[in-house]
Amino acid sequence: MAQDIPLILAIDQGTTNTKAVLVDAAGKVLAKASAPLASSYPRPGWAEQSADAIWASVQSVIADIVSGDHGFIAGIAISNQRETLVVWDAETGEPLAPAILWQCRRTAKDCHALIDAGQDAAVADITGLSINALFPASKLGWVMGNIALARDLAEKGGLRAGTVDTWLLFKLTAGHVFATDHSNASRTMLFDTAKLEWSTHLCNLFKVPVSALPQALPSNSRFGKTAAGTTALSADTPILTMIGDSHAALYGHGVRAPGLVKATYGTGSSLMTLTEGRVLSRHGLSSTIAWSDERGVAYALEGNITVSAQAIAFAATLLGLDGPRALSDLAQSVSDSGEVVFVPALAGLGAPHWTDDATGTISGMTHATTPAHIARATMEAVTLQIADVFNAMQQDIGMALSGLMADGGASTNDFLMQLQADVLNRPVLRGDQPEVGALGAAAMAFRALGITAPQPSHARHFEPGTMQANARITLLARWHEAVTRVKSQGQ
Ligand code: G3P
Repeated sequence: MAQDIPLILAIDQGTTNTKAVLVDAAGKVLAKASAPLASSYPRPGWAEQSADAIWASVQSVIADIVSGDHGFIAGIAISNQRETLVVWDAETGEPLAPAILWQCRRTAKDCHALIDAGQDAAVADITGLSINALFPASKLGWVMGNIALARDLAEKGGLRAGTVDTWLLFKLTAGHVFATDHSNASRTMLFDTAKLEWSTHLCNLFKVPVSALPQALPSNSRFGKTAAGTTALSADTPILTMIGDSHAALYGHGVRAPGLVKATYGTGSSLMTLTEGRVLSRHGLSSTIAWSDERGVAYALEGNITVSAQAIAFAATLLGLDGPRALSDLAQSVSDSGEVVFVPALAGLGAPHWTDDATGTISGMTHATTPAHIARATMEAVTLQIADVFNAMQQDIGMALSGLMADGGASTNDFLMQLQADVLNRPVLRGDQPEVGALGAAAMAFRALGITAPQPSHARHFEPGTMQANARITLLARWHEAVTRVKSQGQ
């Protein structure tokens, strides 16, 4: 065993599972582990997870990796689901309530009240984000209004509130370190992303105690060391990096300068691109901190699409097909969607349209419509939603983006990627490693050790050109008409 070659254990704590990879400095994955994670939906619009189960899943993947005895683990890197809130007792380390998931809409009314009160522009100015129940600010406000123990602890200075990175750091260090990184902080709607500090103005607005919030540090800080007995790792293993998962994916694609955008094709989609400094969006996107390191803060624009690849599974069920692959195969049996347009606003429309109450529609059907046309319209919808965010990004930054880097489960579908290249009229690049977020976090951790990981390769390039220019223009025009109709119904 090569004791002197440092390895990074990168944990990607996601909503549906926790993954871990063990990576060497060449970016080679030596071991992988995964543990599923359940969510619960106790009331309409609510979404929760057990904070203890999140931690247990991390302990489980670490144990799996360590049991392989691959060599010297020089540090840990964490990329995590963002905007999920955990609250706990500083002294006992016990969560006060289930983690409130990023998807949870329990504070939607509170958020609308703030928007109606004219607060949105001021909040966006400080945080780069438009008021929405997604972000932890209103979730923590809900905790303070509804959990008496949280109020009692806050009065005594014993309340701890944080995103998943902060919770895991607290557990890994046996309660010794209470910190977050700038990328996760920037998604809370409580963080001033220009001054890099918690905003007391926003804490007052959302009625949350600033004393309950963690120290916010650069993403590749040496955050702390593992305490003995917390996991299968030896004590004193440094936690070198913490970074939000979408941000880690951008880093994992090797993006270090503006000009390229990454898209993650999951349940929803997240597009992110670096910007020159802090750019506030005027086209329905979020301004966020991509990461921070010894070179300073990297800012980004992000657009979150609520239902993306999930629309493929949805339509497959609707058509009685045997899953997404069958739908994709059916879609390829026709050369166009026969004027059918599917707008998959199954949970409202996210970026860049933001119409919470919008519902999905399938339009343009005639007697000539077949299931294959609907299947094709579904695949097109995934790419057209991405194109809308891509174009909003170009408008915000005032320059053309040269291409798209794809990751996430559905990006393995070649037909979808080719369609995406055609719809965008830009090349789409796909990496050869599916764990791009974990690898991004690992690359950042290697940097913290003074080691520069090699640029990741993008094995597949999908060049635009298989769709005629006029077909593309017609497709986009038809899509925009349909989206406009859906938006007007939802208002
Ligand atoms: O913003 C929420 C996002 O970070 C969740 O990511 O991978 O758990 O779906 P994921």
